[in-house]
Amino acid sequence: MKVVVAAEPELSQQIAQAFIQQIQVKPNSVLGLATGSTPIHTYQHLVEAYKAKQVSFKDVVTFNLDEYVGLEGTHHQSYRYFMNTQLFDHIDIQKEENTHVLLGTGDAESLQHQAKAFDAKIQECGGIDLQILGLGSDGHIGFNEPGTPFDSLTHCTSLAPSTITDNARLFDDISEVPTQAVTMGLHTIMQARRILLMATGPKKAEAVYHLVKGPVTEEWPCSILQRHPDCAIFVDAEAYALVSSQKE
Ligand code: F6R
Repeated sequence: MKVVVAAEPELSQQIAQAFIQQIQVKPNSVLGLATGSTPIHTYQHLVEAYKAKQVSFKDVVTFNLDEYVGLEGTHHQSYRYFMNTQLFDHIDIQKEENTHVLLGTGDAESLQHQAKAFDAKIQECGGIDLQILGLGSDGHIGFNEPGTPFDSLTHCTSLAPSTITDNARLFDDISEVPTQAVTMGLHTIMQARRILLMATGPKKAEAVYHLVKGPVTEEWPCSILQRHPDCAIFVDAEAYALVSSQKE
């Protein structure tokens, strides 16, 4: 696993650059995208690169990792809304046809059906060429919380109490944070040909330690990335602090 330790804005710039190069080499790339606070600057760099005519997204296809259950795509905290406002509305991607964000609404049966169709659609598009990941403080990737089977495909799941607490900062009240989500599974994520994970700040240090040094265990879902043949992690010094201190 390649590790890049740097500070912002360099981290986000490097990840944006990797996406731009990917699209330049293969204009119809299939990209796996994440939401949350971590990739916001990366998306800003991509919008700037598009405006500077360095890259076009017109043939790019995207699949997002996850969505909250219970929020309409128009809700300001839904991940569909996030993607539209942070990226899709500002670039030349064909939003209706080529961007795939799971729906968070519907009954259990329709959510399950949708999850199965999502994995099939990824396959149909040729698989994900480049996947960006954030990292939960409990080691989740996507919304695969501790204990999620490594062979999981896209599925509905409950959010861990620590994730609800972490994400409460974005809602008016913690009671408004959805308790369930639909997420790509760990197996789905691992099938991406190339993965770039980004983590910043001291709250991610324990998870980064387990990601890099820990045994591969379902208790730390991120640890499965040790088994990926082409995964790089981009971290700042604070997120890498526990790994660094073990080296001394
Ligand atoms: C979001 C996602 C999550 C986040 C993680 C970190 O699509 O899949 O795994 O990447 O919860 O979130 P932030 O970046 O807000 O710290």
